[in-house]
Amino acid sequence: MDQPAYLSILRSNETTAAWLDYLDGIGPAAAPVIIPEGEAFITSLRDLGVPEDDIETLVQLRQTIVGNPDLMWLIERCMLSLLLHMDAVSWPPEFPKLPEEFAKLGRYFYTFVYVAMLPHTRALHRRRGIPEDITRATLADVGRHFLIHREQHGTHGMSGADWLMLHARGMIFQIGRLQFERGHLGTSTSRGIQAAGFPCAKGEPVISVHIPGHMGPMSPEACDPSFAAARMFFQEHFPQERPALAVCHSWLLDEQLGEYLPESSNIMLFQRRFQQAYRPEANNRPTLEFVFRTPDRPLDELPQTTTLERAVVQHLRNGRQWHGGVGWMEWQPAPDLVAPNRRDTA
Ligand SMILES: CC(C)(COP(=O)(O)OP(=O)(O)OC[C@H]1O[C@@H](n2cnc3c(N)ncnc32)[C@H](O)[C@@H]1OP(=O)(O)O)[C@@H](O)C(=O)NCCC(=O)NCCS
Repeated sequence: MDQPAYLSILRSNETTAAWLDYLDGIGPAAAPVIIPEGEAFITSLRDLGVPEDDIETLVQLRQTIVGNPDLMWLIERCMLSLLLHMDAVSWPPEFPKLPEEFAKLGRYFYTFVYVAMLPHTRALHRRRGIPEDITRATLADVGRHFLIHREQHGTHGMSGADWLMLHARGMIFQIGRLQFERGHLGTSTSRGIQAAGFPCAKGEPVISVHIPGHMGPMSPEACDPSFAAARMFFQEHFPQERPALAVCHSWLLDEQLGEYLPESSNIMLFQRRFQQAYRPEANNRPTLEFVFRTPDRPLDELPQTTTLERAVVQHLRNGRQWHGGVGWMEWQPAPDLVAPNRRDTA
């Protein structure tokens, strides 16, 4: 069967055409694109935590991709875009959602970019001395986004192509229950923290805390060691960055959740770790997305099994909105790694 002219399809849409112009302008890549074959390909997929029942489809799609110069060009330029932003806080342009004409390939395409990136990501981790178990745990988030795709769309594929840029670029690490990103302080967050009396400046390095799904509850017993290990980790592997603050931008930090959830719930206990920097504008979408994964479904059709599911729906039925929250905490150095003269004067 004839294959679609993939690049022509992308040229016919304003957003994807602008993206192609960008990709055109950055290349060619110095490093060749290698999509391993046979067992090596399957090993790469397993390194990324890809679910076993997606592997056969990816093996088949691999044949289509490696035999198609347009698609190989696209992977090369996507990879280069990531390589140009490796180990750096600045983001490359987003990976756009691919048009319907790409069919199944569109739902899986970016997996191949992350397979091609794998040796580069691993090399960066090695240069930074990141332990293998943290590399593996970090990369396993790719696989979780196959499960999230099923929840969101009811079909197989991979979600979160943009989010996963952080992982490939060596900017986020899974340490125990939580993920920790190397970020910088934004304008509104820095203003909120300054107003609370803590000296800080826009653009300074911060740790941004994230909570992956598909890992069970985020109990204090799981989060406490995660925070403690992360303090050690960043000091050891990124000693030059010296963040003084950690921040968290999340639907979980909406103070209104306290009207519905017990103080002893994991969400409220997590919220209490942070001080609010500011209250974002109302936006129900992230809360609906993370609780139900299908933010566009009518309220009547949403499951009402858990306290949180009932709270989210009841709040909206009462004509109220969800805002999420932006929290901050001091990020003190791990005591064991503080230089003795600094500890004496603390
Ligand atoms: C973050 C997360 C782990 C919290 O789960 P948790 O530790 O079980 O939270 P709590 O113990 O505070 O739960 C309180 C109540 O809310 C329910 N709940 C928590 N998260 C829920 C979710 N995502 N969907 C539906 N119900 C949820 C719990 O079942 C419990 O209800 P119950 O007492 O009736 O059983 C969970 O929401 C999750 O996996 N979310 C997806 C990832 C995410 O949102 N990350 C943050 C991105 S910014």
